[in-house]
Amino acid sequence: MSAEQARAETGVDTREFRDGLGRFATGVTIVTAYCDDDGDGTCEQLPHEPGQHAWGTTVNAFSSVSLDPPLVLICIGRERSIHPVIASARRFAINVLGEDSQALSDCFAGAPSSLPRSAFCNAAHHPGEHGTPLLDDAIAHLECEVEQAVDAGDHTVYVARVLSVAADADDRLPLLYFRGRYLRIERAATSDLRGKPDM
Ligand SMILES: Cc1cc2nc3c(=O)[nH]c(=O)nc-3n(C[C@H](O)[C@H](O)[C@H](O)COP(=O)(O)O)c2cc1C
Repeated sequence: MSAEQARAETGVDTREFRDGLGRFATGVTIVTAYCDDDGDGTCEQLPHEPGQHAWGTTVNAFSSVSLDPPLVLICIGRERSIHPVIASARRFAINVLGEDSQALSDCFAGAPSSLPRSAFCNAAHHPGEHGTPLLDDAIAHLECEVEQAVDAGDHTVYVARVLSVAADADDRLPLLYFRGRYLRIERAATSDLRGKPDM
């Protein structure tokens, strides 16, 4: 649908919608899962190299949902290559990227990259205790199991229970995304952080 058609039908211009959403700064994650060869064809459809079962996609539509029980959500476009992998595996990992991982973000987003997406972007990884691929360089990992898959427009909202979480002990800073560009934290890292104290 063109931007003009979208505005006529919904009252919202697609470009203005993207521009507005782009003002909301986010972190960047790689959502990863293993495809299995149980005959449903999920693995075969992926453009990955033989023997490579880990697959991933760059995602910033990620949010915490509930502390008790621990729930998070991600929104995945139904056309995304990882969509059938999550639908089949029901388990996935959220890998929060550090500020040095821009190349991984590009590769897992299918953007022009010197890294091979078909070989999991050459990203060092290992299996987590709950059977999801964890990126060695992530600043935090969450292993998750799908509780609800809600159709929402052209995306699926996956509400998932967190099975395990690990955060980098080195206090590395995150990669940020704002108005379609990557950013790094600078001033915040050198000034006092004020806010509600941790309980
Ligand atoms: C910073 C960034 C954030 C993204 N966030 C999402 C997201 O939350 N959900 C989504 O479905 N796609 C998101 N994308 C797009 C996908 O990563 C990318 O288009 C997709 O991997 C390409 O489709 P493919 O996996 O079918 O090759 C994002 C891309 C970038 C660069």
